[in-house]
Amino acid sequence: MLDYRLKQSGRASLDFLSSFGAVVPALSRKQTEALKAKGLTDDAKLANDMDERAGQIEGALEPEIAYRVSNLIGEWHAEHHGRIAKEAFEQIAPELRPDFEKYAKGATTLTPNPDIEVPKYWRYPVHRTTGGWDGHPDMGFIHGELVHRYIVGKSPKPPAAGNLPTDIYSDRRNFAGRAPRRDYGKILEIGCSSGPYTEALAQVFPSAEVWACDISIAQLEQAQRNGNHDGRAWKLFQADGQNTGQPDASFDLVTSYIILHELPVEVIVNILKESFRVLKPGGDLLFGDVAPYAAISKVDAWRTDYMAKFGGEPFWRGSSTMDMIGEMKKIGFVDVKYEGTPPTKYPWMTYGRKP
Ligand SMILES: C[S@@+](CC[C@H](N)C(=O)[O-])C[C@H]1O[C@@H](n2cnc3c(N)ncnc32)[C@H](O)[C@@H]1O
Repeated sequence: MLDYRLKQSGRASLDFLSSFGAVVPALSRKQTEALKAKGLTDDAKLANDMDERAGQIEGALEPEIAYRVSNLIGEWHAEHHGRIAKEAFEQIAPELRPDFEKYAKGATTLTPNPDIEVPKYWRYPVHRTTGGWDGHPDMGFIHGELVHRYIVGKSPKPPAAGNLPTDIYSDRRNFAGRAPRRDYGKILEIGCSSGPYTEALAQVFPSAEVWACDISIAQLEQAQRNGNHDGRAWKLFQADGQNTGQPDASFDLVTSYIILHELPVEVIVNILKESFRVLKPGGDLLFGDVAPYAAISKVDAWRTDYMAKFGGEPFWRGSSTMDMIGEMKKIGFVDVKYEGTPPTKYPWMTYGRKP
Protein backbone atom coordinates (compact mmCIF):
# COMPACT_ATOMS: atom_id res chain seq x y z
CA MET A 1 0.00 0.00 0.00
CA LEU A 2 1.34 3.45 -0.97
CA ASP A 3 2.03 5.94 1.80
CA TYR A 4 0.12 9.19 1.53
CA ARG A 5 -1.06 12.00 3.77
CA LEU A 6 -4.47 13.52 3.13
CA LYS A 7 -5.02 17.25 3.46
CA GLN A 8 -7.12 18.24 6.46
CA SER A 9 -10.36 18.96 4.54
CA GLY A 10 -10.09 15.80 2.43
CA ARG A 11 -9.47 13.68 5.53
CA ALA A 12 -12.36 15.29 7.43
CA SER A 13 -14.76 14.69 4.52
CA LEU A 14 -13.72 11.04 4.15
CA ASP A 15 -13.97 10.50 7.92
CA PHE A 16 -17.43 12.02 7.85
CA LEU A 17 -18.48 9.51 5.19
CA SER A 18 -16.95 6.53 6.96
CA SER A 19 -18.66 7.57 10.21
CA PHE A 20 -22.03 6.85 8.57
CA GLY A 21 -21.17 3.18 9.01
CA ALA A 22 -21.39 3.62 12.79
CA VAL A 23 -25.10 4.39 12.74
CA VAL A 24 -26.23 1.91 10.09
CA PRO A 25 -26.40 -1.17 12.38
CA ALA A 26 -28.47 0.74 14.96
CA LEU A 27 -30.84 2.02 12.28
CA SER A 28 -31.22 -1.50 10.86
CA ARG A 29 -31.98 -2.84 14.34
CA LYS A 30 -34.66 -0.19 14.85
CA GLN A 31 -36.24 -1.07 11.52
CA THR A 32 -36.24 -4.77 12.40
CA GLU A 33 -37.93 -3.97 15.74
CA ALA A 34 -40.62 -1.98 13.92
CA LEU A 35 -41.16 -4.84 11.47
CA LYS A 36 -41.29 -7.35 14.32
CA ALA A 37 -44.00 -5.32 16.03
CA LYS A 38 -46.02 -5.59 12.80
CA GLY A 39 -45.38 -9.35 12.46
CA LEU A 40 -43.24 -8.80 9.38
CA THR A 41 -40.06 -10.61 10.41
CA ASP A 42 -41.78 -13.95 10.04
CA ASP A 43 -40.74 -15.59 6.74
CA ALA A 44 -44.19 -17.19 6.44
CA LYS A 45 -45.83 -13.75 6.32
CA LEU A 46 -43.55 -12.29 3.68
CA ALA A 47 -44.00 -12.78 -0.07
CA ASN A 48 -41.56 -14.96 -1.99
CA ASP A 49 -41.49 -12.48 -4.84
CA MET A 50 -38.96 -9.77 -3.96
CA ASP A 51 -40.89 -6.86 -5.48
CA GLU A 52 -44.04 -7.88 -3.63
CA ARG A 53 -42.04 -8.33 -0.41
CA ALA A 54 -40.45 -4.89 -0.87
CA GLY A 55 -43.99 -3.43 -1.10
CA GLN A 56 -44.98 -5.14 2.18
CA ILE A 57 -41.84 -4.11 4.08
CA GLU A 58 -41.30 -0.63 2.70
CA GLY A 59 -44.99 0.23 3.17
CA ALA A 60 -44.75 -0.82 6.81
CA LEU A 61 -41.50 1.11 7.35
CA GLU A 62 -42.58 4.32 5.66
CA PRO A 63 -43.62 6.11 8.91
CA GLU A 64 -40.47 4.99 10.81
CA ILE A 65 -37.80 7.62 11.51
CA ALA A 66 -35.03 4.99 11.40
CA TYR A 67 -36.07 4.05 7.87
CA ARG A 68 -36.22 7.66 6.71
CA VAL A 69 -32.83 8.51 8.21
CA SER A 70 -31.38 5.38 6.68
CA ASN A 71 -32.65 6.38 3.25
CA LEU A 72 -31.34 9.89 3.67
CA ILE A 73 -27.80 8.89 4.57
CA GLY A 74 -27.77 6.02 2.08
CA GLU A 75 -28.72 8.39 -0.69
CA TRP A 76 -26.32 11.11 0.43
CA HIS A 77 -23.42 8.65 0.66
CA ALA A 78 -24.14 7.15 -2.76
CA GLU A 79 -24.54 10.55 -4.38
CA HIS A 80 -21.48 12.24 -2.90
CA HIS A 81 -18.80 9.67 -2.06
CA GLY A 82 -17.31 9.67 -5.57
CA ARG A 83 -16.99 13.47 -5.69
CA ILE A 84 -15.59 13.68 -2.16
CA ALA A 85 -12.98 10.98 -2.80
CA LYS A 86 -11.98 12.66 -6.08
CA GLU A 87 -11.56 16.03 -4.36
CA ALA A 88 -9.53 14.50 -1.53
CA PHE A 89 -7.32 12.84 -4.16
CA GLU A 90 -6.86 16.02 -6.19
CA GLN A 91 -5.58 17.85 -3.11
CA ILE A 92 -2.69 15.39 -2.83
CA ALA A 93 -2.20 14.37 -6.47
CA PRO A 94 1.00 16.42 -7.04
CA GLU A 95 2.65 14.74 -4.04
CA LEU A 96 1.59 11.29 -5.22
CA ARG A 97 2.92 11.56 -8.78
CA PRO A 98 6.56 10.65 -8.01
CA ASP A 99 5.40 7.44 -6.28
CA PHE A 100 3.02 6.69 -9.16
CA GLU A 101 6.01 6.82 -11.51
CA LYS A 102 8.32 4.92 -9.19
CA TYR A 103 5.94 1.98 -8.63
CA ALA A 104 4.91 1.69 -12.29
CA LYS A 105 8.25 -0.13 -12.55
CA GLY A 106 9.30 -3.32 -10.85
CA ALA A 107 8.66 -7.05 -10.75
CA THR A 108 4.90 -6.58 -10.91
CA THR A 109 4.19 -6.11 -14.60
CA LEU A 110 1.11 -4.83 -16.39
CA THR A 111 0.15 -5.77 -19.93
CA PRO A 112 -2.47 -3.34 -21.25
CA ASN A 113 -4.80 -4.25 -24.08
CA PRO A 114 -5.81 -1.04 -25.86
CA ASP A 115 -8.02 -3.10 -28.23
CA ILE A 116 -10.06 -4.69 -25.45
CA GLU A 117 -13.77 -5.03 -26.27
CA VAL A 118 -15.44 -3.57 -23.22
CA PRO A 119 -18.80 -5.24 -22.48
CA LYS A 120 -21.78 -2.89 -22.32
CA TYR A 121 -22.79 -3.74 -18.71
CA TRP A 122 -19.31 -2.75 -17.49
CA ARG A 123 -19.92 0.91 -18.41
CA TYR A 124 -22.65 1.14 -15.78
CA PRO A 125 -21.46 3.48 -12.97
CA VAL A 126 -21.38 0.75 -10.37
CA HIS A 127 -21.55 2.02 -6.75
CA ARG A 128 -22.90 5.20 -8.41
CA THR A 129 -19.32 6.40 -8.73
CA THR A 130 -19.34 8.90 -11.57
CA GLY A 131 -18.03 7.33 -14.75
CA GLY A 132 -17.59 3.84 -13.30
CA TRP A 133 -14.31 1.96 -12.89
CA ASP A 134 -12.38 4.07 -15.41
CA GLY A 135 -14.34 7.29 -14.76
CA HIS A 136 -11.17 9.22 -13.88
CA PRO A 137 -7.58 8.54 -15.02
CA ASP A 138 -6.68 7.93 -11.36
CA MET A 139 -9.79 5.98 -10.40
CA GLY A 140 -7.57 3.12 -9.24
CA PHE A 141 -6.27 5.27 -6.39
CA ILE A 142 -9.56 7.12 -5.85
CA HIS A 143 -11.64 3.97 -5.60
CA GLY A 144 -9.10 1.43 -4.36
CA GLU A 145 -7.40 3.54 -1.70
CA LEU A 146 -9.89 6.25 -0.77
CA VAL A 147 -13.33 4.72 -1.27
CA HIS A 148 -12.50 1.09 -0.54
CA ARG A 149 -9.52 1.04 1.81
CA TYR A 150 -10.22 4.34 3.59
CA ILE A 151 -14.01 4.78 3.73
CA VAL A 152 -15.18 1.15 3.66
CA GLY A 153 -12.14 -0.24 5.48
CA LYS A 154 -12.34 2.38 8.24
CA SER A 155 -16.10 2.17 8.72
CA PRO A 156 -16.88 0.69 12.12
CA LYS A 157 -17.57 -2.99 11.62
CA PRO A 158 -21.19 -4.06 11.72
CA PRO A 159 -22.03 -6.93 14.06
CA ALA A 160 -21.41 -10.34 12.51
CA ALA A 161 -24.76 -10.66 10.81
CA GLY A 162 -26.16 -12.04 7.61
CA ASN A 163 -23.98 -11.35 4.63
CA LEU A 164 -22.29 -8.17 5.83
CA PRO A 165 -18.51 -8.03 5.83
CA THR A 166 -16.48 -7.96 9.05
CA ASP A 167 -12.90 -6.83 8.34
CA ILE A 168 -12.34 -6.39 4.63
CA TYR A 169 -8.69 -7.52 4.55
CA SER A 170 -8.73 -10.45 6.96
CA ASP A 171 -11.92 -11.58 5.23
CA ARG A 172 -9.93 -11.86 2.00
CA ARG A 173 -7.10 -13.87 3.57
CA ASN A 174 -9.51 -16.19 5.39
CA PHE A 175 -11.39 -16.71 2.19
CA ALA A 176 -8.29 -17.51 0.11
CA GLY A 177 -7.41 -19.99 2.85
CA ARG A 178 -10.55 -21.97 2.03
CA ALA A 179 -8.88 -23.31 -1.14
CA PRO A 180 -8.13 -26.99 -0.60
CA ARG A 181 -4.39 -26.75 -1.41
CA ARG A 182 -1.42 -24.53 -0.53
CA ASP A 183 0.93 -25.72 -3.29
CA TYR A 184 -0.60 -24.09 -6.37
CA GLY A 185 1.94 -23.28 -9.08
CA LYS A 186 -0.08 -20.73 -11.07
CA ILE A 187 -3.08 -18.76 -9.84
CA LEU A 188 -5.38 -16.57 -11.92
CA GLU A 189 -7.51 -13.90 -10.27
CA ILE A 190 -10.38 -12.46 -12.32
CA GLY A 191 -11.50 -8.88 -11.59
CA CYS A 192 -8.56 -7.89 -9.37
CA SER A 193 -9.37 -4.16 -9.31
CA SER A 194 -6.65 -2.32 -7.33
CA GLY A 195 -5.35 -5.61 -5.89
CA PRO A 196 -6.57 -6.18 -2.31
CA TYR A 197 -7.41 -9.85 -2.93
CA THR A 198 -4.29 -10.24 -5.08
CA GLU A 199 -2.36 -9.27 -1.96
CA ALA A 200 -4.27 -11.83 0.12
CA LEU A 201 -3.39 -14.50 -2.47
CA ALA A 202 0.28 -13.53 -2.33
CA GLN A 203 0.22 -13.90 1.46
CA VAL A 204 -1.69 -17.19 1.58
CA PHE A 205 0.17 -18.83 -1.36
CA PRO A 206 3.69 -17.36 -1.11
CA SER A 207 5.22 -19.82 -3.59
CA ALA A 208 2.59 -19.36 -6.33
CA GLU A 209 2.92 -17.29 -9.50
CA VAL A 210 0.02 -14.85 -9.29
CA TRP A 211 -1.69 -13.63 -12.49
CA ALA A 212 -4.59 -11.20 -12.32
CA CYS A 213 -6.83 -9.53 -14.90
CA ASP A 214 -9.37 -6.74 -14.97
CA ILE A 215 -11.09 -4.73 -17.68
CA SER A 216 -10.21 -1.43 -15.99
CA ILE A 217 -6.78 -0.06 -16.83
CA ALA A 218 -7.05 2.56 -14.05
CA GLN A 219 -7.62 -0.17 -11.44
CA LEU A 220 -4.82 -2.34 -12.85
CA GLU A 221 -2.38 0.59 -12.68
CA GLN A 222 -3.11 0.98 -8.98
CA ALA A 223 -2.76 -2.78 -8.46
CA GLN A 224 0.65 -2.56 -10.14
CA ARG A 225 1.73 0.27 -7.83
CA ASN A 226 0.58 -1.66 -4.78
CA GLY A 227 2.30 -4.84 -6.00
CA ASN A 228 5.61 -3.08 -6.66
CA HIS A 229 5.43 -1.11 -3.42
CA ASP A 230 5.04 -4.40 -1.52
CA GLY A 231 7.77 -6.23 -3.49
CA ARG A 232 5.39 -8.57 -5.34
CA ALA A 233 5.88 -10.07 -8.80
CA TRP A 234 2.32 -10.24 -10.07
CA LYS A 235 1.52 -10.60 -13.75
CA LEU A 236 -1.32 -8.16 -14.32
CA PHE A 237 -3.09 -7.98 -17.65
CA GLN A 238 -6.06 -6.14 -19.06
CA ALA A 239 -8.68 -8.65 -20.15
CA ASP A 240 -12.34 -9.54 -19.86
CA GLY A 241 -12.70 -12.58 -17.61
CA GLN A 242 -15.06 -14.03 -20.21
CA ASN A 243 -12.18 -14.26 -22.64
CA THR A 244 -8.81 -14.06 -20.88
CA GLY A 245 -6.66 -14.98 -23.88
CA GLN A 246 -4.75 -17.46 -21.68
CA PRO A 247 -3.96 -20.97 -22.98
CA ASP A 248 -6.16 -23.97 -22.17
CA ALA A 249 -5.28 -25.85 -18.98
CA SER A 250 -2.70 -23.34 -17.75
CA PHE A 251 -3.73 -22.52 -14.14
CA ASP A 252 -3.97 -24.56 -10.93
CA LEU A 253 -6.43 -22.19 -9.24
CA VAL A 254 -8.83 -19.63 -10.73
CA THR A 255 -10.28 -17.34 -8.12
CA SER A 256 -12.18 -14.09 -7.64
CA TYR A 257 -13.45 -11.93 -4.81
CA ILE A 258 -16.69 -9.92 -4.79
CA ILE A 259 -17.06 -9.55 -8.55
CA LEU A 260 -20.09 -11.80 -9.13
CA HIS A 261 -22.71 -9.44 -7.69
CA GLU A 262 -21.54 -6.83 -10.19
CA LEU A 263 -22.14 -9.04 -13.22
CA PRO A 264 -25.20 -10.03 -15.26
CA VAL A 265 -25.94 -13.76 -14.90
CA GLU A 266 -24.89 -14.58 -18.48
CA VAL A 267 -21.50 -12.95 -17.83
CA ILE A 268 -21.06 -14.99 -14.64
CA VAL A 269 -21.75 -18.17 -16.61
CA ASN A 270 -19.27 -17.12 -19.33
CA ILE A 271 -16.61 -16.44 -16.68
CA LEU A 272 -17.23 -19.85 -15.09
CA LYS A 273 -16.83 -21.48 -18.53
CA GLU A 274 -13.64 -19.55 -19.24
CA SER A 275 -12.27 -20.52 -15.81
CA PHE A 276 -12.99 -24.17 -16.59
CA ARG A 277 -11.14 -23.86 -19.89
CA VAL A 278 -7.98 -22.31 -18.43
CA LEU A 279 -7.86 -24.63 -15.40
CA LYS A 280 -5.57 -27.63 -15.52
CA PRO A 281 -7.27 -30.99 -14.88
CA GLY A 282 -7.50 -31.28 -11.10
CA GLY A 283 -7.46 -27.48 -10.75
CA ASP A 284 -9.76 -25.57 -8.41
CA LEU A 285 -12.21 -22.72 -8.86
CA LEU A 286 -12.84 -20.56 -5.79
CA PHE A 287 -15.10 -17.50 -6.05
CA GLY A 288 -16.19 -15.44 -3.04
CA ASP A 289 -19.21 -13.16 -3.01
CA VAL A 290 -22.36 -12.20 -1.13
CA ALA A 291 -24.81 -14.79 0.23
CA PRO A 292 -27.65 -15.93 -2.01
CA TYR A 293 -31.06 -14.69 -0.94
CA ALA A 294 -32.26 -18.24 -0.29
CA ALA A 295 -29.61 -18.63 2.44
CA ILE A 296 -30.71 -15.67 4.58
CA SER A 297 -33.99 -14.60 6.14
CA LYS A 298 -36.54 -12.88 3.93
CA VAL A 299 -36.04 -9.59 5.80
CA ASP A 300 -32.26 -9.76 5.42
CA ALA A 301 -32.64 -10.56 1.73
CA TRP A 302 -34.96 -7.57 1.32
CA ARG A 303 -32.48 -5.32 3.19
CA THR A 304 -29.61 -6.47 0.98
CA ASP A 305 -31.67 -5.96 -2.16
CA TYR A 306 -32.75 -2.53 -0.97
CA MET A 307 -29.24 -1.41 -0.07
CA ALA A 308 -28.00 -2.64 -3.44
CA LYS A 309 -30.33 -0.08 -5.05
CA PHE A 310 -28.69 2.75 -3.09
CA GLY A 311 -25.30 1.30 -3.88
CA GLY A 312 -25.86 1.30 -7.64
CA GLU A 313 -25.73 -2.47 -7.99
CA PRO A 314 -28.22 -3.45 -10.72
CA PHE A 315 -26.97 -7.05 -11.02
CA TRP A 316 -26.97 -8.00 -7.31
CA ARG A 317 -30.42 -9.60 -7.32
CA GLY A 318 -29.74 -11.73 -10.41
CA SER A 319 -26.45 -13.05 -9.08
CA SER A 320 -28.01 -13.74 -5.66
CA THR A 321 -30.87 -15.79 -7.07
CA MET A 322 -29.21 -17.69 -9.96
CA ASP A 323 -28.80 -21.47 -9.96
CA MET A 324 -25.06 -21.42 -9.29
CA ILE A 325 -24.77 -25.10 -8.39
CA GLY A 326 -26.68 -26.12 -11.53
CA GLU A 327 -24.49 -23.90 -13.75
CA MET A 328 -21.25 -25.16 -12.21
CA LYS A 329 -22.27 -28.80 -12.73
CA LYS A 330 -23.47 -28.16 -16.29
CA ILE A 331 -20.04 -26.74 -17.15
CA GLY A 332 -18.36 -29.88 -15.81
CA PHE A 333 -17.12 -28.91 -12.35
CA VAL A 334 -17.21 -31.66 -9.72
CA ASP A 335 -17.23 -31.59 -5.90
CA VAL A 336 -19.24 -28.37 -6.22
CA LYS A 337 -19.83 -26.45 -3.00
CA TYR A 338 -21.93 -23.33 -2.57
CA GLU A 339 -21.80 -22.26 1.06
CA GLY A 340 -21.04 -19.42 3.48
CA THR A 341 -17.78 -18.85 5.33
CA PRO A 342 -18.04 -19.08 9.13
CA PRO A 343 -18.54 -17.29 11.48
CA THR A 344 -20.77 -15.05 9.31
CA LYS A 345 -22.04 -16.22 5.93
CA TYR A 346 -19.69 -13.78 4.24
CA PRO A 347 -18.09 -14.30 1.85
CA TRP A 348 -20.21 -16.95 0.21
CA MET A 349 -18.04 -19.57 -1.48
CA THR A 350 -18.53 -21.06 -4.92
CA TYR A 351 -16.09 -23.97 -5.26
CA GLY A 352 -15.60 -26.62 -7.92
CA ARG A 353 -12.82 -28.84 -9.27
CA LYS A 354 -12.07 -29.56 -12.88
CA PRO A 355 -11.91 -33.35 -13.18
C1 LIG B 1 -15.75 -5.11 -6.75
S1 LIG B 1 -14.41 -4.99 -7.82
C2 LIG B 1 -13.40 -6.35 -7.44
C3 LIG B 1 -12.78 -6.25 -6.15
C4 LIG B 1 -11.49 -6.98 -5.92
N1 LIG B 1 -11.47 -8.32 -6.41
C5 LIG B 1 -11.24 -6.91 -4.42
O1 LIG B 1 -10.84 -7.88 -3.82
O2 LIG B 1 -11.50 -5.83 -3.88
C6 LIG B 1 -15.01 -5.53 -9.37
C7 LIG B 1 -13.94 -5.47 -10.45
O3 LIG B 1 -14.33 -6.40 -11.47
C8 LIG B 1 -13.94 -5.85 -12.69
N2 LIG B 1 -14.71 -6.53 -13.74
C9 LIG B 1 -16.03 -6.40 -13.99
N3 LIG B 1 -16.34 -7.21 -15.01
C10 LIG B 1 -15.22 -7.87 -15.38
C11 LIG B 1 -14.93 -8.84 -16.35
N4 LIG B 1 -15.85 -9.30 -17.19
N5 LIG B 1 -13.66 -9.27 -16.47
C12 LIG B 1 -12.69 -8.80 -15.64
N6 LIG B 1 -12.91 -7.89 -14.68
C13 LIG B 1 -14.17 -7.42 -14.56
C14 LIG B 1 -14.23 -4.37 -12.54
O4 LIG B 1 -13.53 -3.62 -13.50
C15 LIG B 1 -13.79 -4.12 -11.11
O5 LIG B 1 -12.45 -3.72 -11.05
